Amino acid sequence: MDFISLVEARQSTRKFDPEKKVKPEDILFCLEAMRLSPSASNAQPYFFHVCEAEKAKQVAKATQSAGLNRFSTDAPVQIVICEAPYNATASLGARFRNQDYRSVDIGIAAIHFVLAAAEKGLGTCMLGWFDEKRIQEILGVSDRIRLVISVGYAKDEPLRRKKRKSLDQLTDFIANKEVSSSQ
Ligand SMILES: Cc1cc2nc3c(=O)[nH]c(=O)nc-3n(C[C@H](O)[C@H](O)[C@H](O)COP(=O)(O)O)c2cc1C
Repeated sequence: MDFISLVEARQSTRKFDPEKKVKPEDILFCLEAMRLSPSASNAQPYFFHVCEAEKAKQVAKATQSAGLNRFSTDAPVQIVICEAPYNATASLGARFRNQDYRSVDIGIAAIHFVLAAAEKGLGTCMLGWFDEKRIQEILGVSDRIRLVISVGYAKDEPLRRKKRKSLDQLTDFIANKEVSSSQ
């Protein structure tokens, strides 16, 4: 698939087929795409836990409250993304420049993963609504948990038109325009 077709094909799946298992080699394909993603100072400050079977069900449950994410139970695989420490260079850069590169890096790694999944015909939904303490208990870790990705096959879910802001709302082009300084 060419890149734009892949970007258009990826959408958040909220109707998974509970009967259809995900092939381990497809998960490995997505993990390899994640592994090759760029990160600030090449720190790769993340760890991906692949949860399957009963663990996946437990993690899915921890993403459900206030009526949200009920669909995640039907996804056979849940990826839990933990934040790992910076390396020394990234840590210094972050402090010096007052930036948090870790969440940026995690977002980039996650998009590599979900686009690779779309390439394999898999459905994914990135989940930011979850009970962090509960997932830490399930996995026996104390790391910050930043994102969960539900993975499986979509069931009867047509491709939706993407609702997005216009390019004008999201971008501008600056060359010689006068810019008023706030400093
Ligand atoms: C960081 C992040 C957190 C998200 N959390 C949730 C979530 O908890 N539940 C959910 O149904 N969708 C969640 N989404 C999916 C977004 O709602 C979705 O990406 C957005 O509406 C655009 O739709 P699309 O992914 O189908 O293109 C999340 C997406 C991101 C990037």
